Amino acid sequence: MRKILLLFICFICFSFSFAADKKTLVHNFNYEDLGTQFKVYDVTGAVVDSDISSATVIKDENSATGFGNVLHVKVGDVASYIEFEIPNGMTGTKASGEFHTLTFTILRPDGQPETFKGTFTLSFGNTVSLKTNSGDINAPVSVETTLSYGVNKVSSVSKKFRIGFNIKNVEYYLDDIYFWSVNYNYDYTDPLQTARYHADQIGKNLGVCVSPNQLNASTREGQTIYRNFNMLVGENAMKFDATEPSRNNFNFSQGDAIVNFAQKYDMEVRGHTLAWHSQTSQWVHDGKYSKKEMLDILKNHIFKVVGHWKGKITEWDVVNEVLQDGQNPGVGGGYQLRTNSVWYERCGEEFIDSAFVWAHQADPDAILYINDYNIGHWGGGHYENGKTHGMYNLAKRLKEDGIPIHGVGMQMHTSVGNLRVDEIEKTVQEFEKLGLKCIITELDMPGSNPSTSSEQTTQATKYAGLADIICRYDNAPSMVVWGIADNKSWLENCEQTKPLLFEPNFAAKKSYLKIVDTFEKYAVAASFEPVIADEEELLPAVVDVYNLMGQKVASQMLMEDIETLPAGLYIVGGKKIYIR
Ligand code: XIL
Repeated sequence: MRKILLLFICFICFSFSFAADKKTLVHNFNYEDLGTQFKVYDVTGAVVDSDISSATVIKDENSATGFGNVLHVKVGDVASYIEFEIPNGMTGTKASGEFHTLTFTILRPDGQPETFKGTFTLSFGNTVSLKTNSGDINAPVSVETTLSYGVNKVSSVSKKFRIGFNIKNVEYYLDDIYFWSVNYNYDYTDPLQTARYHADQIGKNLGVCVSPNQLNASTREGQTIYRNFNMLVGENAMKFDATEPSRNNFNFSQGDAIVNFAQKYDMEVRGHTLAWHSQTSQWVHDGKYSKKEMLDILKNHIFKVVGHWKGKITEWDVVNEVLQDGQNPGVGGGYQLRTNSVWYERCGEEFIDSAFVWAHQADPDAILYINDYNIGHWGGGHYENGKTHGMYNLAKRLKEDGIPIHGVGMQMHTSVGNLRVDEIEKTVQEFEKLGLKCIITELDMPGSNPSTSSEQTTQATKYAGLADIICRYDNAPSMVVWGIADNKSWLENCEQTKPLLFEPNFAAKKSYLKIVDTFEKYAVAASFEPVIADEEELLPAVVDVYNLMGQKVASQMLMEDIETLPAGLYIVGGKKIYIR
């Protein structure tokens, strides 16, 4: 069932001002102060005739909507850019690590194309410094889409700026234009500002892999871990060679250190991993064991390890990397299993099914995953497609055979250039149809040119895009990064490629901050939910419903039928209602 959120306008203002520690509002464009008609220019800077394009403030006289004014932009045969004035000018002086951002809301009136495809342009003052952002501008009707753009070069003399799209013959509404100063050197000492804080609110997990020597709460590293993440995975501590170094001789000390730290700081733990071709103790390889002995060894290992942490570890990567590289089974096809695995060589496929059954017997509450790399790009000709479909076919087969498998882990050792967020979302949706979770388990995103701010922005946008998926899908509850600081990753050259969320000195990177913003957005929306219970008391039983432009979309509708409206934001009785 869809949920209705009542958004009280004053509360929204509140949430902006409270975020001030990392984000300061530099300017809020209030149309009430700025006249009614705005000048419009073409891309060369020539004025566009008002017969062709116009930008007019619409006075919202309708008290039922309770909203301020909005700018109605009509663009004719010439791509047009609207000029705004910044009464006191924008200061160009920025401390190191500080960043300016513009956010605004665009609304698409009825009858307009579903997606604005085009380049967004923001230009400042006379010394025009352009910030362009290509790609689709997605502005569904009546839904607020907040876009944010980094502004790199605001000249100190800038008192004017222009914004627009290189699209002809469109019409849209523009509102809530804000300039922010964002401090990306923000030191996360305030627990109420962290990604973990917001993730906790919405029941999602931002995880990280660790080794016990990183878990010293008196160090900056230890603090970074418990303040910013709510899930831990042993980078190596729970693997076969760490836990069973000689036959039936178990060593849980490393894993215990992680579990204890997690419990102290109220974090979840993922167990990684039970059956893997790599980091399996040498004695298993050397022992020349028969199939039956190998299965006995695996069964004993799983019962001892899962049993030891029963109730303390919420989920396990039961089998890891069992699929062959470079396969192309195609839709509806089969899958190819990795042949260079000591488990597969000696037991055949059976070890996979058995491992799940034993893990389930050892801890019936544990959530059980199959985990692999190069999984997540469903279509689009991406090089991962074949293995992704192989995983789908294997997981489907296990599910149909009644094996207790609950989800698929996409390791996502990828790169800024290769990752396609939309493809990951498709994969999540496909596994959802199978009734399986689909999570991100070992994310890192090296860049090819990470000292450039454009690649930093792309990395941040992709990290945030994945966080957004985590927030929107019930079957994708977690996202785990494979390391904390850029200089300490398992990846070679990590210092150069900067794959992770924190600087070597544990300062938050833009990528981390964007994840905070994403989780915060959903946490704020979720915080409105308690109001729903009282909706009948707050609103009349029969209501007129307006879109954000103040246009009536339904007359005298029963409140109880309100969920039948298409997803989006509406105004009812002076309150914003979000139907999703
Ligand atoms: C890596 C660790 O990060 C390294 O410290 C170790 O030397 C090798 O393993 N896929 C996995 C992880 O499932 O367990 C791997 O971790 C990275 C690839």
